[in-house]
Amino acid sequence: MKVLDAEFVKGFIRMTADGWDQGWHERNGGNLSYRIKPEEAESIKENFKPRDWQDIGTEVPALSGEFFLMTGSGKYFRNVQLDSEANICIIEVDETGTKYRILWGLRDGGRPTSELPSHLMNLEVKKKIDPNYRVVYHAHPANVIALTFVLPLDEKVFTRELWEMFTECPMVFPEGVGVVPWMVPGSREIAIATSKVMEKYDLAIWAHHGLFAAGVDFDATFGLMHLVEKSAEILVKVLSMTPQKAQTVQPDDFRHLAKDLDLTLSEEFLYEKPASPR
Ligand code: 13P
Ligand code: ZN
Repeated sequence: MKVLDAEFVKGFIRMTADGWDQGWHERNGGNLSYRIKPEEAESIKENFKPRDWQDIGTEVPALSGEFFLMTGSGKYFRNVQLDSEANICIIEVDETGTKYRILWGLRDGGRPTSELPSHLMNLEVKKKIDPNYRVVYHAHPANVIALTFVLPLDEKVFTRELWEMFTECPMVFPEGVGVVPWMVPGSREIAIATSKVMEKYDLAIWAHHGLFAAGVDFDATFGLMHLVEKSAEILVKVLSMTPQKAQTVQPDDFRHLAKDLDLTLSEEFLYEKPASPR
């Protein structure tokens, strides 16, 4: 089968197009990775032409021998749907988990996303927790980024504020969201910090930069990004109108929701707030 005829490749390309349509991918902003199932790799392996091994820049031993579909560094999400083979690639991780090689794609040259260490370390952490996790998505949604200049960079505050904006949030991400302080993009340090957050959450906000989401498939992962950005947009609108909400969902309301829907909502997010400003 041709690579572009495989369903997982079509799903990947659709997700990049959907992200572009949302306005989350100015220029080359954002990146996407998918841990390919063995039977999916088998179905397209006749197209693989291995290039040289390169350093990943970190170690992911639990991903050794696995195949990944990823966006290329410096490539525009806008162009993935127009010329996929030039803008995305399939890579293989070596037996030591420290090197990768390109097997397909990036037809005119290039390398996988500069956030390769973060993608692979997040995929590794998630695989260890639940092997069904396969997708890691990084985008630059404006409202989430705006909030990182206004709210304390504290996972308790971000989780609570996003939950309050609409009730789908605690239902879809009851474990909350994590926050990574500003760090150099593409570095091993930010990859380590993000993968630590991913041990607990499916969402890692990058202060003054963007958001990482992880999920079992393209729909779940895109939906998570979409939900958080929508919630952030509502909060930005509210804070633009008033520094203090006139009314909101209270800790006991969340406890009630958790009981009725059989959700686990950690008490760490259900703190009492001071009377002002939020
Ligand atoms: P890449 O073009 O290397 O994927 O980088 C984009 C980005 O968003 C970096 O954080
Ligand atoms: Zn980025």
